Amino acid sequence: MRALIFPLLSALILTVPAQAEQPEAIFDRACGACHFKQRDTARRDEMIAPPMDMMAAHLRQVTGPDRAVFVARVLDFIKAPAEAKAVDAMAVQRFGLMSPIGDTFPELTDGELQAVANWVFDSFATAQLPSPGQRGRMAP
Ligand code: HEC
Repeated sequence: MRALIFPLLSALILTVPAQAEQPEAIFDRACGACHFKQRDTARRDEMIAPPMDMMAAHLRQVTGPDRAVFVARVLDFIKAPAEAKAVDAMAVQRFGLMSPIGDTFPELTDGELQAVANWVFDSFATAQLPSPGQRGRMAP
């Protein structure tokens, strides 16, 4: 019996498609190499890029609540960052311009990048920018 079941099981395992990586896992592995998810003033000195909740809040001020507009803008930026496109001039000033994602993580597909951008849209929907006074303490 065992002689029969084992080949059957392995055939089954081999035909199940590999589970696609979840958007948050892609964020953690790729984007998370530079971006913290949340603003954390205690870890300010460790930051090499702005926290993603703050970037999402900035973006939303520009794009409004529309998912498609937000996602398209994120994709356009991360594939070809440019100072003129950046929503937060202070972030560019402090950290320098983001490298094109194709340079740092060339293996990420368009579909994966789109999934991450949608995940950012959903995950930081309620993120608020700090008040101008608090922001002052965050300044470079
Ligand atoms: C090598 C470091 C690095 C990696 C990896 C990285 N980023 Fe960035 N990113 C930055 C820096 C630095 C900035 C701030 C300067 C700027 O706006 O270019 C930034 C800015 C941004 C912004 C603000 C865009 C805007 O419109 O102003 C978004 C959104 C963003 N990153 C998303 C992502 C996502 C999503 C990923 C992963 C798929 C990612 N980043 C990976 C360094 C990185």
